[in-house]
Amino acid sequence: MDAHVDQSKLPEDARAFCDDVLSGLSQPQKELPCKYFYDERGSKLFDAICRLDEYYPTRTETALLDTYGDEIAGLIGPAACLIEYGCGSLVKTRLLIDALDRPSLFVPIDISEEHLLRSAQELAEDYQDLDVRPLVADFTQALDLPDGDLPDGDLPDGDLPDGGLEDEGFGKKENCVGFFPGSTIGNFDHEAAVAFLRTVSETVGSGGGLLIGVDLKKDTETLIRAYDDAEGVTAAFNLNVIERINRELDGNFDVSAFSHQAQYNAEAGRIEIHLVSQKAQTVHIQGRDFNFSEGETIHTENSYKYHIKEFEALAAKAGFSPVKTWVDENGLFSLHYLTVAE
Ligand code: AVJ
Repeated sequence: MDAHVDQSKLPEDARAFCDDVLSGLSQPQKELPCKYFYDERGSKLFDAICRLDEYYPTRTETALLDTYGDEIAGLIGPAACLIEYGCGSLVKTRLLIDALDRPSLFVPIDISEEHLLRSAQELAEDYQDLDVRPLVADFTQALDLPDGDLPDGDLPDGDLPDGGLEDEGFGKKENCVGFFPGSTIGNFDHEAAVAFLRTVSETVGSGGGLLIGVDLKKDTETLIRAYDDAEGVTAAFNLNVIERINRELDGNFDVSAFSHQAQYNAEAGRIEIHLVSQKAQTVHIQGRDFNFSEGETIHTENSYKYHIKEFEALAAKAGFSPVKTWVDENGLFSLHYLTVAE
């Protein structure tokens, strides 16, 4: 094993990926951060998951937004500044923007600049009156928006100014509302979820709000089916992360010697996704060896599920009070509107 591999030739993104892979696979319980699922192929597979019969969250949340849009808009009020954490499906964003009473500003935040700018541009073209200001940032970090009036002007074509919109005097606005759909909060453990919600409450400020989708606890069978579908789309999504290591980090995973596993950890209240080694084997990545015994796993994702009261208690730790929660008739998924006390 060569511990002195020169990684300096890797581009910066690849270096972060490499560091995370090498350290994750060196843990006693091997693990990989779930954010690395989403390369181009992984994002397409995720879109396919969202269309599966077994994967109820997407259609259920979309239906909640559609059905209760007017009521949500009434609670949020006019001229809102809407901040979306992570730039996912524009379908949900459009439903919300359509329902709102003349939102003043839409700030989608995402770490992936290319995807973000493309999505923001598309939205801005369809909503000529809406000020769309994409922000390239890691939204798990607190956003430090300096005070001051917002500049006039259109969405920059192509590039954002260095340092994002802060340099343009992106100011604190009235009636700020965060939007965090998809139960992406489920990827955070409880402590990280509170820390994230705290950054949101600080960003929207007192009197601000948060509209967040949260997947609910339910029978294990329904949960497992959603994360281990019959067509094997979720399996392909999970396996893609080791294929990505082969492609980008010159790894030599034998992908056919790993299988997808989804299990519900009732004690922790989460679905866990793993890749299970089908035999004893050694994998080489960037000059390092990783040994697997038969049945050993790589833990690739957690997806926490909540009871409504559990989520409200978590959000309360971050300064949010519940205003209203909507749930579908089958009790599968919840959409919460919460506010920061004035
Ligand atoms: C995007 C994190 C909400 O946990 O349901 C779907 C990701 N993983 N199937 C989820 C996912 C496997 C999804 N989130």
